[in-house]
This record gives sequence, structure tokens and C-alpha cells, in this order.
Amino acid sequence: MTLVKVDWKTNDKLAVGKGSTVQEFFATVGSDKLEIDVAPWGEGHLKVNGREIAHIENAKDRRQAFRELDKTALRFLAGQPLKSDGKRRPSKIPAVKAKLLEGKKGLIVGIANENSIAWGCAKAFRAFGAEVAVTYLNDKAKKYVEPLAYELESSIVMPLDVNAPGQMEAVFERISKEWGKLDFVVHSIAFSPKDALQGRVVDVPRDGFLITMDVSCWTFIRMAHLAEPLMRKGGTLFTMTYYGSQMVVKNYNIMGVAKAALESAVRYLAAELSPKGIRVHAISPGPLATRAASGIPEFDALLDKAKAKAPARSLVSIDDVGVATAFLAHDAARLITGETLYVDGGYHIID
Ligand SMILES: NC(=O)c1ccc[n+]([C@@H]2O[C@H](COP(=O)([O-])OP(=O)(O)OC[C@H]3O[C@@H](n4cnc5c(N)ncnc54)[C@H](O)[C@@H]3O)[C@@H](O)[C@H]2O)c1
Repeated sequence: MTLVKVDWKTNDKLAVGKGSTVQEFFATVGSDKLEIDVAPWGEGHLKVNGREIAHIENAKDRRQAFRELDKTALRFLAGQPLKSDGKRRPSKIPAVKAKLLEGKKGLIVGIANENSIAWGCAKAFRAFGAEVAVTYLNDKAKKYVEPLAYELESSIVMPLDVNAPGQMEAVFERISKEWGKLDFVVHSIAFSPKDALQGRVVDVPRDGFLITMDVSCWTFIRMAHLAEPLMRKGGTLFTMTYYGSQMVVKNYNIMGVAKAALESAVRYLAAELSPKGIRVHAISPGPLATRAASGIPEFDALLDKAKAKAPARSLVSIDDVGVATAFLAHDAARLITGETLYVDGGYHIID
């Protein structure tokens, strides 16, 4: 999409002109609501649908701040990478002194937005010094993922719908060309059609079963297949699972069956690949309010139960999951493989 101009409207309730402080500008382009605010001392913010995607601190004045943010808005709308304004801005990536994963390069699949478990992993891997490639599901998802990829300083940001023939291969080909190696993969995706997920397992239709297993389980096996030749010096493969694989959890239904298959696949892949130094793990977080979780009825009750029953009396965050996952990618964890690691405040040990 090429755009020449955004038609900005000012907030006429605010004073405009010399002596006024902050000025606000609004525009609607398609389904996106854009906002810019700029202050006379050269600071400004650009938000898209209520979320900040750019911040400028040291422009000469309000006018220059607006011009820079307007250019960033155009790049965003044209689907181009958001270029750094060269100024420091608050980062969402925590500052960690020990860059324990420096030199490692990995692929993270499954970032939909800032609540995604994959985003928690990406932040942790990056904070520990790893380089990460990320994917987004489709054009609709791109605008949410791209600002996060920018935070991660990812040089590889590609579309990946695992149902689209060739897209997964294209991602691994690009990694092979650009990096020539791969140290880790985080597979953090799952899908089940509503009628399959929200019904009894005993009633599940064949097509719903197949798509659930395909997206939620087989794609991990396929990613392991594509990663193997790039992990000549070893590596770590991760997937996300849930306790509903082991026990019958109300409303988890067919996804529990898929996660059981996934955990089993982890063990077989670990047995097959660990002689080459490629470790394979499932990470099993406690419930987290993400977009995928919103498809599970009565999810709030699951959160309340998790908090009350877990010995730690706490829900987990995506950051808790991220750092635990990053630890397993470190060389210090080289003899740990085939695990299902619970990051759930101890919930799974309690009757
Ligand atoms: N949220 C929880 O409580 C919880 C708990 C344990 C495990 N998990 C697992 O964590 C993983 C990540 O889920 P989340 O909770 O972060 O939710 P999320 O909605 O943020 O992430 C799910 C991701 O799956 C991706 N996806 C779905 N279909 C796809 C396809 N065809 N091609 C490519 N990507 C596709 C989505 O784009 C999204 O990025 C899932 O495997 C989920 O089962 C979640």
C-alpha cells in the first residue's frame, strides 16, 4: 500500500499556536485510528489504535516532531519497517547485564500481540542477547507484530500462516540464507475451530480434529524437520503445552488431546535429535489471558482456580514463561532434553 499523505485533524478543544503546550492530531485510515501529540520542546508520540508505536524526544521543536511522526505513520500504513528516529525511547525489552545468549539466533513463531506467550519469550531471549526472527500470521496481524519486531531489532520479520503452502519453508530458507544457522525455535501456536474446541471430545468432527492436530501438533514436528539441518552445532526446540494434556480440564476438550500428542512428539523428537545436540522441550505455562485463551469458555474461572490452588498462590506472566524458556536454551542446560517444564506456580503437583 502506498500512501502520499495522512489527513490529520487537530483537536480543536486544545489551544493551538504559539504559547499552547501539547497539540493533538487525529486521523482515521481504513480501520486504523492514528493519534499524534507533540509538545513545544520537541517531544511527541504516535499511537495506532490506542497503542504507542513511536516516540520522539529531541526534535528541534513541535513542528519537526510532528513531521517525523507523520513520516513514521506513513511507513506504518505502507507496511514498511518503522525506522529508528535515532533517539532513545523507553524500551519494552528489560535491561539484563549478563548477555547469556549472545551470539545465538532463533526463530519465534506465535506473536499475535503484547499478551502473547511468544512475545514474553522473544523479550527474554533478546534481553539475554540473542537475535530473533519473528513471524506474523497475516496482514491483519502484521500491524500489531511489526512494532514489537522493531523493539526486538529483528532483521527477519516474515508472514507465516502454517496453512499457507510454502510459507514455513520460506521462513527457514531466509534464515538459512541470512544466518546460515539456527540455535533455537519457539513454536507458540495452536488452533482449533470453535465447534471442535467448544464441544465434547466424543462429538468432535473429523475436519475439526484434523485441523486442531495439524496446526497445534504437526507444525512443531515440521519445524523440527526444517530446523535440523540448520542446527549443525546443536540447538533447542520449544513448544507450548498445557496441563489439560494430562488431566481432564473443563472446557479444554480436544485441545487437551492435541497437547497430549504434542508432548509425546517432544519426547520422540528429543530421542531422535538429542544425539546431534538438539534438545527438545515442551513448556507448560499456567493459564494466561491471551487471545488464544479467549476461545476457551469460563476462562476467568480457570484463572481464579489456578491462583487459589497453585502453591505459589500466583498466576504466571508471559515474562515468567519467557525467562524459563530462555534458560533452557543456554548451554548450561545442554543435558536437559525431552522435558515438559511446568511454569505454573506448582499447580500441577497439587491434588
Ligand atoms: N494462554 C494460556 O493460558 C496458555 C497456557 C498454556 C499453553 N498455551 C499455549 O501457548 C501457545 C501460544 O498461545 P497464547 O496463549 O500466547 O495465545 P496467542 O493468541 O497470543 O498466540 C497464539 C498464536 O497462534 C498463532 N496461530 C494460530 N493459527 C495459526 C496458523 N494457522 N499459522 C500460524 N500461526 C497461527 C496466532 O497467530 C497467535 O500468534 C499456544 O500453543 C497455546 O495453546 C497457552
